[in-house]
Amino acid sequence: MKLGVNIDHVATIRNARMTNEPEPIYAALLAQEAMADGITTHLRTDRRHIQDRDLYQIKEIIKIKLNLEMSLNREIVDIALDVVPDQATLVPENRQELTTEGGIDVIKEFDRIKDVAEELKAKDIFVSLFVDPDIKQIDASKKSGAQAVELHTGNYANAKKGDISMELERLKKAAEYAKSIGLEVYAGHGLTYENVKPVAAIKEITELNIGHTIIAKSVFVGLKEAIRLMKQLINEA
Ligand code: PXP
Repeated sequence: MKLGVNIDHVATIRNARMTNEPEPIYAALLAQEAMADGITTHLRTDRRHIQDRDLYQIKEIIKIKLNLEMSLNREIVDIALDVVPDQATLVPENRQELTTEGGIDVIKEFDRIKDVAEELKAKDIFVSLFVDPDIKQIDASKKSGAQAVELHTGNYANAKKGDISMELERLKKAAEYAKSIGLEVYAGHGLTYENVKPVAAIKEITELNIGHTIIAKSVFVGLKEAIRLMKQLINEA
């Protein structure tokens, strides 16, 4: 199981004071040293955390996989085509949201997703869609030309005690189905040190993208140790 570390909230801290510390590129380098398998970052249209400069720096300096989370916004698509990350993960984006609130609606946005996926793939960028664990969305993802899906684990992460096993079952079924139709399967959103293990145990899922909980823990134990602890839990699952 691979771990992509989302470093967006390093930029959130920096931007709180509009200074130059902490720098996301420094976090990306430390994550690479801590044997993270990839760096994930979301260049939002409102630029609330990662800035264009951060993205270009990360692309230039980091050797591990760069996964760019991005909306279908034309300006962002053009930046992705210029930066050429290893992977693009298409996500929905609403201005008012605290963080991404759910999977992209592949059925509703099908034509636009298909066009953007084609543009990205023409540049050899691997295309993943962030979707709810829903068979219809996964089917539409495959038809759109995407090569992978990242299953949205937010409902699992937020589930009340009695609903956790049902949400986990949905993730398992979705992962099995996505793999059976030839998609790579990733997962993420809202995962924490407490809830990661059952998701990491789903064998069809090959990569987790985790951000907030790792950056939160790093405030107290340092980023390398926070990543080591997460990798340990994932490997134990
Ligand atoms: N995957 C996707 C598609 C996301 O949008 C996010 C949040 O940016 C994450 C994973 C990481 O979520 P979290 O910060 O809750 O770990």
